[in-house]
Amino acid sequence: MARKKITVVGAGNVGATTAQRLVEKEIGDVVLVDIVQDMPQGKALDILESGPVYGYDTRITGANGYEETRDSDIVVVTSGVARKPGMSRDDLLKINAAIVKGVVENVVKSSPTAILIIVSNPLDAMTYIAHKVSRFPKNRIIGMAGVLDAARFSTFIAMELNVSVENIHAFVLGGHGDTMVPSTRYTTVAGVSVEELIPKQKLEAIVKRTRDGGAEIVNLLKTGSAFYAPSAAVVEMVEAILKDKKKILPCAALCEGEYGINGLFVGVPVKLGARGIEQIFEIKLNAEESAAIKRSADAVKTLCEQVDKILSC
Ligand code: LAC
Repeated sequence: MARKKITVVGAGNVGATTAQRLVEKEIGDVVLVDIVQDMPQGKALDILESGPVYGYDTRITGANGYEETRDSDIVVVTSGVARKPGMSRDDLLKINAAIVKGVVENVVKSSPTAILIIVSNPLDAMTYIAHKVSRFPKNRIIGMAGVLDAARFSTFIAMELNVSVENIHAFVLGGHGDTMVPSTRYTTVAGVSVEELIPKQKLEAIVKRTRDGGAEIVNLLKTGSAFYAPSAAVVEMVEAILKDKKKILPCAALCEGEYGINGLFVGVPVKLGARGIEQIFEIKLNAEESAAIKRSADAVKTLCEQVDKILSC
């Protein structure tokens, strides 16, 4: 069986760590792309040379262009600028819009049948751009955010209850921004709703910490944003697709009526398999949850309106 080919665009912290995690899992060969001369080649070689110690045979190469990425099965786009302390993800819109547009144009030419996973921020708007520019069918355009946000939510719940993170199924909806909607009602610990296990006030503090999870890391790092958990989240998605696991994960998907959202990429539970997004699950929301996801979708819409203006220039 031919090996799967995964391209990671952007060899910064998120891209390089994603590449490392992917080759360690041996789920496909990796091409790491960056515009900086020699840098992706250097990181790729360094990762390749870890193989004998770790015991993986996956190949990884670095490149400054797209020739080497030809006919990738999955392309992960991490390109763009990361936040600095005091910045919101939305502050990155203009600069990253131009970068992501250029990358996606190249990806369309070199890998017309690939599944795209977008990681650049502001996430939901960048995924929207990727869709507009590529015109790929909606099952092949996926934004990575919900898996990361849910991982943060799970981490904080596990810390609070002193239980294994494996017992927790966290549920997060909405955009990857200040309006994201961690759902306490649908988040469970060994099958039991977290609302029954953690007092309301404490739970509210955990929800807030989850929403601010990205900024918490930015403030600690001072020179960039998170990359260990974001790369882990990407790898879970890539694995679900390449192994056709039909795994239900929260991802930014193009909603066409689901949750009352139309024409926007917003975080919703999806089934990830060989065809990418194979299904969007529409679960029942109460009035408060519906209002929260609407608020979040409205925030995404405002950004996408700015994107439309940028793209029409
Ligand atoms: C975060 C950035 C990557 O949430 O959006 O850490």
